[in-house]
Amino acid sequence: MISKSIFSFLLLALLSSPAFAIWPIPKSYQQGNKPLFIHQNLALSYNGGNVCWNSFSEHSCPLDEFSTKYEYNEQLVYTYGYSPASINSKEIVQAGVSRALASIFQTNFVPWRLHGKNELSSFEPDVNQAKWIKSLAITQTGEDKPETFKPLAGQVDESYNLTLSEDGVAKLSAVTSTGVLRGLETFSQLFYTHSTGTFYYTPYAPVSIQDSPEYPHRGMLLDVARNFYPVKDIQRTIDALSWNKMNRLHVHITDSQSWPLDLPSMPEVAREGAYSRSQIYSESDLKGLQEYGVARGVEVVLEIDMPGHIGSLNWSHPELIVAYDAQPYQWWCAEPPCGAFRLNSTAVDRFLEAMFDDLLPRVAPYAAYFHTGGDELNANDSMLDPGIRSNKTEVLQPLLQKFVDAQHARVRKHGLTPMTWEEIPLNWNVSIGNDTVVQAWLGDASVKNLTAKGLQVIDSNYNYWYLDCGRGQWMVFDNGASYNTYYPFNDWCGPTKAWQLVYSHDPRAGLAAEQAARVLGGEVAVWSETIDPVNLDQVVWPRASAAGEVLWSGRLDPATGANRTQLDAAPRLNEFRERMVARGVGASVVQMTWCMQAANSSECAVAAVTGLFDLDGDQVNWGYKHHALHPPHVAATVAAGDHRLARRRRRCAAAPALRPALPQPPASAVPLPAPAPAPAPAALSPEGEEEEEDDDDDEEDEEDEDEEDDDDVEDPHKDEEFYRGETLTA
Ligand SMILES: *[C@@H]1O[C@H](CO)[C@@H](O)[C@H](O)[C@H]1NC(C)=O
Ligand SMILES: *[C@@H]1O[C@H](CO)[C@@H](O)[C@H](O)[C@H]1NC(C)=O
Ligand SMILES: *[C@@H]1O[C@H](CO)[C@@H](O)[C@H](O)[C@H]1NC(C)=O
Ligand SMILES: *[C@@H]1O[C@H](CO)[C@@H](O)[C@H](O)[C@H]1NC(C)=O
Ligand SMILES: *[C@@H]1O[C@H](CO)[C@@H](O)[C@H](O)[C@H]1NC(C)=O
Ligand SMILES: *[C@@H]1O[C@H](CO)[C@@H](O)[C@H](O)[C@H]1NC(C)=O
Ligand SMILES: *[C@@H]1O[C@H](CO)[C@@H](O)[C@H](O)[C@H]1NC(C)=O
Ligand SMILES: *[C@@H]1O[C@H](CO)[C@@H](O)[C@H](O)[C@H]1NC(C)=O
Ligand SMILES: *[C@@H]1O[C@H](CO)[C@@H](O)[C@H](O)[C@H]1NC(C)=O
Ligand SMILES: *[C@@H]1O[C@H](CO)[C@@H](O)[C@H](O)[C@H]1NC(C)=O
Repeated sequence: MISKSIFSFLLLALLSSPAFAIWPIPKSYQQGNKPLFIHQNLALSYNGGNVCWNSFSEHSCPLDEFSTKYEYNEQLVYTYGYSPASINSKEIVQAGVSRALASIFQTNFVPWRLHGKNELSSFEPDVNQAKWIKSLAITQTGEDKPETFKPLAGQVDESYNLTLSEDGVAKLSAVTSTGVLRGLETFSQLFYTHSTGTFYYTPYAPVSIQDSPEYPHRGMLLDVARNFYPVKDIQRTIDALSWNKMNRLHVHITDSQSWPLDLPSMPEVAREGAYSRSQIYSESDLKGLQEYGVARGVEVVLEIDMPGHIGSLNWSHPELIVAYDAQPYQWWCAEPPCGAFRLNSTAVDRFLEAMFDDLLPRVAPYAAYFHTGGDELNANDSMLDPGIRSNKTEVLQPLLQKFVDAQHARVRKHGLTPMTWEEIPLNWNVSIGNDTVVQAWLGDASVKNLTAKGLQVIDSNYNYWYLDCGRGQWMVFDNGASYNTYYPFNDWCGPTKAWQLVYSHDPRAGLAAEQAARVLGGEVAVWSETIDPVNLDQVVWPRASAAGEVLWSGRLDPATGANRTQLDAAPRLNEFRERMVARGVGASVVQMTWCMQAANSSECAVAAVTGLFDLDGDQVNWGYKHHALHPPHVAATVAAGDHRLARRRRRCAAAPALRPALPQPPASAVPLPAPAPAPAPAALSPEGEEEEEDDDDDEEDEEDEDEEDDDDVEDPHKDEEFYRGETLTA
């Protein structure tokens, strides 16, 4: 055991109590400590007739005041499980009320775990002295527009104000129905189940909250192509996103591994391309998911990744595809099976015209965006394209420009705005319209470069927001060289992104104001090589919640201008995790119960550690896996985002002591191809000899550069070698 005298625990500033419970934390809030109970018969109203407010009607407000009142001066009733009959403000609010009250009365929890041992009774109010909440009056001050339900970033005002007076009058106001939904979610988080089991209360009256999001795009990417998720699992994920006030679900709906999306005009595509006939999203599945999202203020955005990552079409349309399942896969793509579109093929163009005509009319009613992919295209694929037979940038770039122009034009023609991965503008120098939203994943430098080009960006920096990372390899390694080289089988993007690391990332950090304004938000990424419905919830939640708070509340506390702290976040995240579990999402544990029960979060905080560990391998190795901390040099450098230093040090300090008999594992470990069993692209090249010479050089370079690969994660574009021997997931 390492004693407290060796660590210097600092006593950190205490939070003012009682703790505030809401996740993500509102921009501005005040609360008291008077208890109020809530009952299902509280009076609910929506726009109680006092507000001049139109529906979609053509009539202007003053003229139509009477009919507006008539239409909306109604009490809402709490109906468990209500789902909107159609997409309009009142139906959406009615369903939102139903869900919020169900969260209070049906799926709430007794917070014993958040209070000291046997201290719950002093937190719980006396049911015999119950004072009741009388009413919840919802006022929407603005009129919803069609784009409220499928907004571009910034098109919908999600702000809300919520008050709860000491004598039990609750008022929620918002400009849009989406803002009402956000406020209802906050309202629901004020309440707990009483341990008597039949009473529900808040200890926090009076309450006054003014809240609005920091970023307009707050999302999650879910990859349903590496593994399939039934509709109900995606619905549960949409629910959890909405509890976190996140507003985008980006469904990476096809990839080279499978094509689970039915295209009614081309049924062969999913029939042949899905993992199984039972793993296909039908037309009505898709519509159901889109509507499910709209009702919760979560826009479902689809991505069909192209022109790489499209090998699953080889099963139905082989004439469109090159390099399907080409081996060794590292020469052709980032992970098996490879497969890319032929870049200069009229058949591909015809297919995409038909595909978009089938799909996009079904997307446009529910979303503002369509994502055309564009990550990790390997130039070698076109060496196998009989119409091209080259991997040269000067040949491929113009073809790619034409390809992207054509697809983005189709997206726009259907009334949608294109999204693309960063490689299209950054690596391929393809010029794209400035309406396009570019998704960055390779780091802060990408965000900087993209915004410098005047492009709008969402950030999915893999060093922070790739939730699949750090859980070990899914590739296998045969005994011998491969086994020894890649022991201990880490995946390419470890370590795991702890919630604290997720929480540390600010997508706008270090950007000048003009560039920062182009960062619309971000998405955590859930690539599914090692995730499926069984472990989805616990891998994703509540780490995604940490990004949710950064994106809604901002990384900085507006009250102090300082970074929000883990000490403030942890008790709320613990509590929110209990809520998510009570509501049916199997979120992981944040802290052990002892920390949750502690009087304040300083109990499980470490303020500073000095001197214990240096780079002496023996000391580093000693017992630390049972300790709360990794060696401080690793923890500190990783937290600072300096993976280069962290990895180098881990190699120097830890590896020899742990495993002296084995060679050094590269931090990002996927085997390089064994010496050329498959035909090298050079063989197909018209400039064979020259290329071969280059090749030799390349291979020599590769050894050096492979060393550097580990060290250069933050600047992967330094050279193309980044792509070699790494399984990049996207
Ligand atoms: C919320 O309160 C602020 C401050 O009083 C006010 O400016 C804003 O208009 C209110 N918003 C709504 C939707 O009522
Ligand atoms: C891809 O399609 C072609 C044409 O049908 C076929 O010959 C090939 O076997 C397919 N590739 C794989 C790996 O299935
Ligand atoms: C393309 O293939 C060659 C082998 O012919 C390989 O050396 C090179 O790394 C490959 N390029 C990429 C980007 O994978
Ligand atoms: C693309 O196809 C067109 C028409 O078949 C042809 O003229 C052109 O040379 C091709 N371009 C490349 C780079 O192969
Ligand atoms: C990128 O394309 C632009 C034209 O769109 C051109 O001016 C610029 O030189 C290109 N940059 C590189 C590095 O090729
Ligand atoms: C795109 O460029 C035009 C012309 O420079 C400009 O007016 C517009 O604001 C830009 N749009 C975005 C979203 O940056
Ligand atoms: C960003 O731009 C700089 C300067 O042009 C360049 O050196 C760097 O490679 C670029 N990085 C990325 C990730 O595009
Ligand atoms: C917030 O933390 C980041 C590092 O995560 C740091 O670069 C930045 O300076 C901090 N901001 C403030 C205002 O302390
Ligand atoms: C909070 O925790 C610190 C560190 O354990 C302790 O010294 C302090 O007394 C605690 N404060 C309260 C209010 O319990
Ligand atoms: C193109 O192919 C040649 C010959 O196989 C190879 O040496 C080179 O690395 C390839 N270039 C790219 C960008 O993959």
